[in-house]
Parts: sequence; structure tokens; C-alpha cells
Amino acid sequence: MKISFSGSLTSNIDLLICPVFKNDKILKNYDIKLKKIYNELLNDKLISGEKGESETIIKSDKNLPKKICFIGFGEKDKLLDFEPREIIGGKIKHSMSKKVKRIGLFIPSELEKYFTDIVEGACLVNYTAAKFKTGKDSDKANESLFDELIIIISNENKFKKAANEALVLSDAVNRVRDLVNGPPNYVNVETFAENAKNLSKSNAFKITILDKRDLERMKMGAFLAVNRGSDKKGGAKMLIMEYCPKGLSKELFKKPVLLVGKGLIFDSGGYNLKPQKGLDDMHQDKAGGATVLGVLSVLNKLNIKRRVIGIVPLTENLLDAEAYKPSEVFTSYSGKTIEIRNTDAEGRMILADALSYGIKMFKPEYTIDLATLTGACMVALGDRYAGIMGNNKKLIDDLIKCGNETDELLWELPMHRDFKEAMKGRVADIRNIDNGTSALAGASKAAAFLEYFVEDSKWAHLDIAGVAFMEKPKAYDQAMATGFGVRLLVNFLSKN
Ligand code: BES
Ligand code: ZN
Ligand code: ZN
Repeated sequence: MKISFSGSLTSNIDLLICPVFKNDKILKNYDIKLKKIYNELLNDKLISGEKGESETIIKSDKNLPKKICFIGFGEKDKLLDFEPREIIGGKIKHSMSKKVKRIGLFIPSELEKYFTDIVEGACLVNYTAAKFKTGKDSDKANESLFDELIIIISNENKFKKAANEALVLSDAVNRVRDLVNGPPNYVNVETFAENAKNLSKSNAFKITILDKRDLERMKMGAFLAVNRGSDKKGGAKMLIMEYCPKGLSKELFKKPVLLVGKGLIFDSGGYNLKPQKGLDDMHQDKAGGATVLGVLSVLNKLNIKRRVIGIVPLTENLLDAEAYKPSEVFTSYSGKTIEIRNTDAEGRMILADALSYGIKMFKPEYTIDLATLTGACMVALGDRYAGIMGNNKKLIDDLIKCGNETDELLWELPMHRDFKEAMKGRVADIRNIDNGTSALAGASKAAAFLEYFVEDSKWAHLDIAGVAFMEKPKAYDQAMATGFGVRLLVNFLSKN
């Protein structure tokens, strides 16, 4: 998709979107023809500018777009910060049709401060997960995609950079969605790693891919335990990606930000096999890893002045004669031993080794991990808030603030010292689920397990199980994978 700017209404626009406010007949900055049309609609009481209202008219005037849609934004001083993105994204979502390929978006001066939100809303909604349809249905799938967003705004030069940034970010989010939605026979350990390698070439980050033999040599026993049930093709790999901007001071070089993402290609649960419903869509379990890759892929384009390390452990969690079993004990990369109490608590196992390795090798200032880690987090918070936990209040608060700005909301869950105690093992140092009460505070207990592997690094854990993949999307999203976390983390990295 392309973004362009235009000063005129005649540049072949299929649908023009015009925000209007309640009690505003003047429409400052609007084209005289649009003002006239709007005033007619007002006089005919077809629209009043009320929030949520919209009226689309079809014109056969050569000097005007074919369809013009006025959308109500309510009273100017009552607009809430999250609304512009939702109103514009939502309207575009419902206006898409095969005939709408070029969307014009008029941005009046009152909405200039929401420029990025509005453009992101329009770009994020321009996505379809139906990538495998053929024949007539394939046209239907493409129907929901437009080719170009034409922005009409006064002083366009002031907004060109922001438009480009919004496009770079939403492209990355849409690529992350493709990875997360990707069926496991298309997006597997091999192809995920290949994809990361290709992105590293075009986006100026280094990549090292550790394969199963490397992991064995390095004694990543927790990670390899989960991989034991996978077929030999579905080997384990660990992606280690490093972005370092040119000219970074020595001091900042020594304080990178470490991002770790769970890359579970398919989670069957293993011998603690998931119930039928629980198996649905467990290809989404690589969302944390896909998000970390998505972030790495934009840092150079957005000129982020921070060294960032991304680590993604990739494996399936399957079951065969070699699969790991409850009651087995494994020695993790850190040297700590782990007693398996449930093979479905596999995410924390692969994150444990990835976290200890990243912290040991790169000595980060901040460590942030993202994982579709627990159904418990989903039950507690639903699909609009991800859980955040960690060991550093300031890091948690900063991330919450960044998420509020990008509408990727985080809610802090508690980390009680007793939870960490509850994760102590009977025969080994720790156990992968606690004794009998795992249904209580499950998200916090998973975080308590991870805490054993973060040493004294400033660390935050984002449990994205409820928000990474959903049936009921936000107004400016599409169903299935959401790409949650890309915009939030880039926002954080641009400020810290
Ligand atoms: N991948 C799942 C968590 C999940 C559930 C993600 C639903 C997205 C949607 C994770 O590996 C898991 O199975 N967690 C267990 C932990 C339990 C065994 C303590 C769970 O949540 O049931
Ligand atoms: Zn699991
Ligand atoms: Zn999982």
C-alpha cells in the first residue's frame, strides 16, 4: 500500500472521508464544494456531526470523488485521545469494497494532532488474513484491501515524515500478523528463521541462528526439553538479532535493550495434551517471537538511537515417544534444574534459556519479554489488556504509558514473593507449575518462574495470550493476529 498527499479533490479518489464536528457549519480549511454539500446535508437533517454518525453520498461531478463520506466526530472539545484512530479505522473497514482502491482522507486542522493515530488506523485496518483462498474467493479476500491512501491536509510537508513512519510501522505490524496467522505447515521453525534472515539483510540488523546442535553444545536443556517431541525437521532454533545504530556512544553501546519473544510454532500441550477447544489456533503461540522480529525490522528505518538485541527461541511443542514427560528433570542453561509438572507450561521453559542467555551475553539495561504464556492471563484480563509483570516499577510504568499512547493497553498483575516460593521444586530447584494451585494467579506464577532466570536485570514480562489473536477485533483491526506490541515497543525504544 502507498500513502500520498494531494491538495486537490480530483486525484482519482474512489472514496473521500471527511471528518465533521457537531455545531460546526463553517468547516475551516474545507474545499468550498464540500462545504456546500455538507451544508445541504445539515439542512436536510441527514447528519449533525454527532459522534458515530456518518453519511455517504455518491456524486457524478467530475471535479469531486465518486463517493464522499462525512463522519461525525462529536463536539471538538469532547474528543477522547483513542477515538480518532478508532473512528477513521472503523469507517474505512466498513467502507471497503472491490471498487474502493484509492481512499482520500481529509484531515482538518482540529485533527492534526492525531495525524499519526489516524494514518495508523487506516493502514492497520487494511489487512486480510485470508491469504490461502483461491478462485472467486481469492478475489473476495483481496476485496478488503485498498491500494492507496491519499491524504489531504494543509501544510503537508510538516506531515510527510510522520506519514512515512506510520506506514513503516503498520507494514511491520501487518507482516507480524502474517507470521502469526501463518499455518504451521507454512510458517515453521525453518521458514520463520529464513524470514528473519531476509529481513536482517534489508533492515541492517545482524542475525545469528543457533541450530539444535549449537543449543546442545551450549546446554540449553530447558529449551531442548520442549523440542524433544518434534519431528526431526521441526528442529529447534534460536534467533539472536542485534541492531546497533551508527555512531552510538560507548556508554550506550554497553546498555542495550534485550527483547525476548516466545516462538512456539504450534503448542499441542505435549503429554498434558490440550483439550479439543484449547488446540484451536495454537499456531498463534509464536506471536511474541514474531513481534520481536517485527520490532527489529523497523529500527533502522525509524532511526532508533538505541542498541537492541532480539532473541527468539523457535520450536513446536508436540508429542511422540521422545517427547518430554511430566516428572522429568532438566538442567537449564543457567544451571538451575527444573522439574516438569506439566508439559503444556512449555513457554516458560524456552523463555528461561533465552532470557538467561541474553542477559549473560549482552548485559542489557532493560529486558522485556513477550509471550502468549497463560490462559489465566486471558481469563483475568480478556482481550483488550495484556498483563505486565516484572521487577522494576519504573520500567513497568513506562511501558504502560507507551502502550496507552499506541492503544496497546497493559495492566499490571501482582508479583507476590510467595508465588516465587510456590515455584520451588520437590526434587529439583524449581518446577514448571506450582503445587496444586496453578489455577490461582496463573499468569503471576508463570512470571514468578521466569524471575528465576532474569538475575538482577531490570525486567518486564508481557503476557499477550489474550491480545495477540482475537475473534472480536478492535474497530481499526481485523480478526485473528493483531501484531500487538510492535508499536508499543518501538514507542518505548524511541523514548528510552
Ligand atoms: N500457549 C499457552 C497459553 C495460551 C492459551 C496462549 C490460550 C493463547 C491462548 C501456554 O503454553 C499454556 O499452555 N499455558 C498453560 C499453563 C498451565 C499448564 C499452567 C495454560 O494456560 O493452561
Ligand atoms: Zn502450552
Ligand atoms: Zn504455549
